[in-house]
Amino acid sequence: VAKRRDDYRPSDFFIDTVDISFILSPENTEVCNIMEVTRNISGCDILKLDGEQLNFVSLMINGRLAKENIDYTLHENGLDINLDVDHATLEIKNTISPINNTSLEGLYYVSGAYCTQCEAEGFRKITYFLDRPDVLSKYRVTIICDRPELTYLLSNGNKLEDTLLEDGRRKVVWEDPHRKPAYLFALVAGHFDRLEDSFTTSEGREVLLEVFVDSGRLHQAGHAMSSLKKAMKWDEDTFGLAYDLDRYMIVAVDFFNMGAMENKGLNVFNSKFVLAEPKSATDEDYFNIESIIAHEYFHNWTGNRVTCRDWFQLSLKEGLTVFRDQRFSEDMSSALGCRIKQVKVMREHQFAEDAGPMSHPIRPDEVLEMNNFYTVTVYDKGAEVIRMLHTLLTPAGFRRGMDLYFARHDGQAVTCDDFVQAMEDANDANLSQFKLWYSQSGTPEVKLALEQNQLRLTQTNKPTPDQAVKQALYIPIKLSMLDEKGLEHTVDEEHLGTFVLSQEAATISLPERLQHGVPVILTDFSAPVKIDYQYTLDEILHVLRFAQSHYAKWDASQMLYSRLIRLAYDSNEDNDNDNNSDNNNDNNKYNAGQIQSLTNLIEYLEQATLPDDVVAQILCIPSFETLAIEYTQLNPSRLQSAHQELTLLLARTAKDCCERRLKEQRVLPYRYEQSEVNRRTLFAVCIRLHVLALSQEGKGNDLLSAYAQADNMTDKLALLKAAQQADINAFDALMIDFEEEFGHDAVVMDKWFALHATAPRDDILSRLDLLQAHSQYSVKNPNKVRALIGSFAFYNTQGFHAADGSGYKYVVDFLMKLDAINPQVASRIITPLLQMNRYESTYKSLIESQLSRLFTQKNLSKDLFEKLSKTLAQS
Ligand code: ARG
Ligand code: ZN
Repeated sequence: VAKRRDDYRPSDFFIDTVDISFILSPENTEVCNIMEVTRNISGCDILKLDGEQLNFVSLMINGRLAKENIDYTLHENGLDINLDVDHATLEIKNTISPINNTSLEGLYYVSGAYCTQCEAEGFRKITYFLDRPDVLSKYRVTIICDRPELTYLLSNGNKLEDTLLEDGRRKVVWEDPHRKPAYLFALVAGHFDRLEDSFTTSEGREVLLEVFVDSGRLHQAGHAMSSLKKAMKWDEDTFGLAYDLDRYMIVAVDFFNMGAMENKGLNVFNSKFVLAEPKSATDEDYFNIESIIAHEYFHNWTGNRVTCRDWFQLSLKEGLTVFRDQRFSEDMSSALGCRIKQVKVMREHQFAEDAGPMSHPIRPDEVLEMNNFYTVTVYDKGAEVIRMLHTLLTPAGFRRGMDLYFARHDGQAVTCDDFVQAMEDANDANLSQFKLWYSQSGTPEVKLALEQNQLRLTQTNKPTPDQAVKQALYIPIKLSMLDEKGLEHTVDEEHLGTFVLSQEAATISLPERLQHGVPVILTDFSAPVKIDYQYTLDEILHVLRFAQSHYAKWDASQMLYSRLIRLAYDSNEDNDNDNNSDNNNDNNKYNAGQIQSLTNLIEYLEQATLPDDVVAQILCIPSFETLAIEYTQLNPSRLQSAHQELTLLLARTAKDCCERRLKEQRVLPYRYEQSEVNRRTLFAVCIRLHVLALSQEGKGNDLLSAYAQADNMTDKLALLKAAQQADINAFDALMIDFEEEFGHDAVVMDKWFALHATAPRDDILSRLDLLQAHSQYSVKNPNKVRALIGSFAFYNTQGFHAADGSGYKYVVDFLMKLDAINPQVASRIITPLLQMNRYESTYKSLIESQLSRLFTQKNLSKDLFEKLSKTLAQS
């Protein structure tokens, strides 16, 4: 049964202290959990503890052995204890089997190390507990282990004791002085190499910093460590927030369901977001490491010191913390590059989620499996909502709100409303309409019309499966008008550049000289909405040429490409119905004016002096997934061809431009530094277009020798991707090379699996079979599964959407196996299939029959059940 946000009730009991001991063993770990409990609601006489997949051993209440069915009852989801007192000491013993825990939730043991993941509801797989975020307790943790080769036995907080027992076992005791919810508990035990450093906080606290990695990888831990120090400094400078313990530990593990986890004082990371050296990590990896290290660090205040009252409030910590890590990255690297990345995530993934069966507000109302709600909506749209507050209240006003939020709620478990209230009170603002962003799902559409002497803006909020009735939202829209000469003018009443659309419709009157102007709209993606304005191709080029903002120029380029792809898609439809036409002649898809618009775009790029990263971004066509959301009754293979046709036309049109830019490249030894990142980004885009242009002329390329010369992973991957798209023989040769060089490195091999999985080739499914038998692949490792099967389902359009349905069937067969092993990962991989209802009927019914087959599987997880039932109900 699903839980509803409205059903929240405070806990009947609290747990003040936890004294928990572990005697570690892979097959049978003994857990002894001593808790001081206090009654919170008088009259309650049953304490209902959560517990899943635990072997109960015994319960003592105030030192007396309790009797089953008299003092307590056990059931599948926990333990009910009869407790008609205000205070009690409970001692519960149970055992668990970490080696058999393939879900990677709770305590698990894999490749020689123990590790935990408790968010959201994993602590109940370790011991019986009130596993909810509004129960805050002080923890003392004892770890006993008889294997001396496990050099580190770690938990949250400060280490109190580390002793060798008489029987040869080792005992380590930790204490965390900060009260915390169970989801922030962590335990790690294993053998690692350790990188040590220190940071002195603005309050003068000397903090020991430690990064633990697999042995032999110490040289790959430096970037993570320096990222951590930057994040610590940034949070002090930007928000006045300093670290609050004497020790901060980060452990990198190869088996992890997500990116990383902010456990108090002991972050656990997916190793791919820690390890980096130029030889094996790309610029993108370096960027992601810096941003995720910062994200987890920032959680110490937004998440840990102030936590969530219940899981419906997840965006309280995640939306806010994503916003904070975004601002950090903007300061550390290129603000524009960051913003474009963020917007791509919204348009490519979040809009699709909001248009599909899983549509939910950033603060969901109903949840069956909480793990299903760590979504792009809660995280990324959540961050966009915080960003709008930041825009509306100004940075200084936002800071005042943050200060008040911490002054009021430090040490508490609170709600999204509490956060907005602090923002309101600190700024004397009225955010009552703004708050609808928390409760309303779906992507608003803002239609713009240029009428005689005014601009008319209209917002539409279409019903979503979860919500039939919608209200008008409070939408900050950054906009301006370009006159015919290309001069840019503000037009909102206060001339601040941002117009707030708060009604269904509004108008802005225009002075005469702007009545034939061109609007520049939603600059910097000032709100998470779609814009509908019928630009002509020439108007788009006008924006590209004359808008001051590089963001607006990039956005114009994306509009131009989408428009051209739409034209090709529609003309392919005509061709499908006309047997005599020549489908292969893609020049016929476009008329002279349309081809000219692309020529003009390239000409502009050639004469303007834009930074490398802007040029690179402008030369990127929107992804298939971004475009797909604009279509109803989508025929994926037709969109795929239209996308490919425009790509080829762009390659031909940009041929000289790319050649010149490639010649200009001055290759220096690898350094992760913004100007170099920009240069390499441009290289990657140009080389791909260049090779595509050559292959259309039937000419060879020099990818093989360029690859041989590349000294870093960023360039190597750029060349591999170029080959994958334009020269499959070169690709195959390079992939063999790559495997020889990196076959031993699990983190790097994920890139290799992903490249294989996304290659456009007819025998892709038998290739996937072979790859699943590769010695580096394991169905139990989420990184491998995501790299191979995830990449195929998300990004191999041709193979996944094969007209005979074989791609869909392949993924569903795989999910049937994976669901029993790791439902959380299965539930991520199924995402592309949930878009079923957006496809043309033939594709839709192929997907539907596969999903129905999966739905009838025995022992289906809650995770898949929730998504499948919603998807199939909608069809
Ligand atoms: N709190 C973690 C983070 O955002 C992610 C936890 C994801 N948990 C989950 N069950 N999917 O850094
Ligand atoms: Zn987070």
